[in-house]
Amino acid sequence: MISLRHVSTTFPAARGKDPIHAVDDVSLEIPRGSIQGIIGFSGAGKSTLLRNINLLERPTSGEVRVGGTELTGLGGEALRRARHQIGMIFQGFNLVNNLTVAQNVELSLKFAGERDRRVRRERAAEALEIVDITEKAKVYPAQLSGGQKQRVAIARALATRPEVLLCDEPTSALDPFTTATVLQYLADVNRELGITVVIVTHEMEVIKALADHVAVMESGRVVEQFHAAELRREGFAPRTSIGRYLVSDGISVDRRGGGVRAGSEPSAADQGADPGADQGADQGPGADPPASGREPRTASGLVAATASSEGGPR
Ligand SMILES: Nc1ncnc2c1ncn2[C@@H]1O[C@H](COP(=O)(O)OP(=O)(O)OP(=O)(O)O)[C@@H](O)[C@H]1O
Ligand SMILES: [Mg+2]
Repeated sequence: MISLRHVSTTFPAARGKDPIHAVDDVSLEIPRGSIQGIIGFSGAGKSTLLRNINLLERPTSGEVRVGGTELTGLGGEALRRARHQIGMIFQGFNLVNNLTVAQNVELSLKFAGERDRRVRRERAAEALEIVDITEKAKVYPAQLSGGQKQRVAIARALATRPEVLLCDEPTSALDPFTTATVLQYLADVNRELGITVVIVTHEMEVIKALADHVAVMESGRVVEQFHAAELRREGFAPRTSIGRYLVSDGISVDRRGGGVRAGSEPSAADQGADPGADQGADQGPGADPPASGREPRTASGLVAATASSEGGPR
């Protein structure tokens, strides 16, 4: 359904700085009707890669295909039309505050080129019904809870009846219960409407709950991929240390004044993992344990720092 081939996105250098390789030679195949999770730490390039799929951010190089259409070969009106098959929801909901819930959803149909007001109303009502929020159609976003706002955002993305739904951290502003509700709606949309879902998150719990396939990103690259079902298999250990780190949940904080030491206890998975099996993914500059007093700059550095400050996996 979605095919990314050697996709790279480089942002031009600020004065005196190096250019940023936000996405670096990523190839990924996402089957129709599946749920693909993309996980990684802040700055790994997840949002940029997601925006590459609908060309909200046009890649610097590489090919993006969605449903057999090469989007990277399109421009102008043809690209605008092709994008109708791709809905997107954002971390910050992005609702227009001075429009009602229904008007917010109708607006996306207007942007998609639907000229008939009656059709816009019907489609908006249909989309609001899918996420069970019809009773809030006439209220303004300020009167909604976070979970309700996110459901409206899902309705807005569904109104154009897309084949693909791109979700950028859709639950990171929500409490665990509301997160479960929103994820359930995404699962239902996937199962009942057959929509292919791509979800970016930094929470492995979200991946475990929802995804079929997982891609782990670090420094712009997909460093590892596995079936989400593996996460439930006893003894499963991701190949890369970043993958293992993300699998081990929990946060440990030193309250005795030992300095910043973000990270979690190595999980059972870490203990069984073969540190030599990373196959180059962690051999970038970030793999070196940071010199004392210097903060690790990459996620790998953080992993290494955590491991060294804890004496490594026990
Ligand atoms: N428009 C832009 N111009 C310049 N640099 C950018 C731009 N957008 C992103 N970047 C840089 O690209 C890198 C990847 O950013 P991106 O937003 O894709 O990361 P992310 O994995 O989504 O992080 P987070 O989890 O914090 O949302 C970062 O170093 C970021 O500063
Ligand atoms: Mg992001």
